Amino acid sequence: MTAASPNNPIDIAELLAFYASAGVDEALEDTPINRFAEVKPKQAERVSATAAPARESRPQERPAAEPGFDASWAAERPAASTRLDASQVPDAPRRPTLTAAVPDEGQIMLARQLAASASTLDELRQHMAAFDGCNLKFTAKNLVFADGNPNAELMLVGEAPGRDEDLEGLPFVGRSGRLLDRMLAAIGLDRTSAYIANVIPWRPPGNRTPTPHETEICRPFIERQIELVNPKVLVNLGGPSAKTLLNTTEGILRLRGNWRVHTTASGTAIPAMPTLHPAYLLRTPAHKKLAWRDFLEVKAKLRALATS
Ligand code: URA
Repeated sequence: MTAASPNNPIDIAELLAFYASAGVDEALEDTPINRFAEVKPKQAERVSATAAPARESRPQERPAAEPGFDASWAAERPAASTRLDASQVPDAPRRPTLTAAVPDEGQIMLARQLAASASTLDELRQHMAAFDGCNLKFTAKNLVFADGNPNAELMLVGEAPGRDEDLEGLPFVGRSGRLLDRMLAAIGLDRTSAYIANVIPWRPPGNRTPTPHETEICRPFIERQIELVNPKVLVNLGGPSAKTLLNTTEGILRLRGNWRVHTTASGTAIPAMPTLHPAYLLRTPAHKKLAWRDFLEVKAKLRALATS
C-alpha cells in the first residue's frame, strides 16, 4: 500500500471525509494550535456600559446636523494608516474554511423550545449558555449576549461578535463598536439608553460568515431576546441582521432607510430600520451619510412614538 500523498486529490478527499466523520468541520490554521495551553484572557472589567467613545480627530467637513448633535462620525474618513484586520470587520473577505454540514434540525427545535421557555432575559441568557447545539459555541471564548439597557426604547442588532467582542463577552466593543457609539451619541443616545445584541451570540471562527444553518439555530434566541426587550424601535445593523429578522432576501443597500416591521412570536409589530453596518462604514466612509440619515429617521421615530 502506498502512503497517502498530499498532492493526490483522492487522498485529500478521503482525508477530509475522515475529518468530517470525526466531527472536525473547520480548518482554521495551517498548523495545529494547543488551545489548552492558551491563557484565558482576563475578562475586561466593564465598569460602565456607557463608556464614552474615544474622541477622534475633527472632520474636514460636517454633514448637516441638528444643533446639539455631534454628527462628525458621518464625515470622517479613515486615517491613511488605518488597516482593517478581518477580525474587526465581520463582513470583510474571510479566510477559507472547510465546513461540513451537520444535519441537526433537532437543535433548531431545541433552540426554539428553550427560547420560548425563557420568561426573562436572565433566563434566556442561562438557556443560551447551557445550549450545546451550535458548533460556534465550542470555538468561541464567550457567549456574547448583550450590552446596554434592557429597558431601552431602542434595540440594535448586529450580525455576530468579532475577536474583541469574543474576548470581552460584549457586543460591539471593537472598532466598529466605537463607531456605533459615536453614531448613537449623534442622536443623543448611548448604552444606557439603547440595548445591543447580535443575531449570532458566538464568534464564528476566523470571523467567517455564519452558515445559514448556524443562523437558523441561533434565530429563536435573538427573536425571543427582541420579544423580551420589547423595544419601541429596532435597528438592523447590516444585511445579515436585516435579512434574518425582517424575513427578506433584499440587499442592505436597497433595504436601508426604509421602515420595515419585525413581528414577534406573540404578534407585536416593532418598527425596524435596516441600516449599514458600522464595519462596512469603516471600509466605505462615503456611505456614512446614508447611515446618518437612517439614524435621524430613528431619532424622529422615537420622538414621534414618545408623544403619541
Ligand atoms: N460586528 C457585529 O455584527 N457585532 C459585533 O458585536 C461586533 C462586530
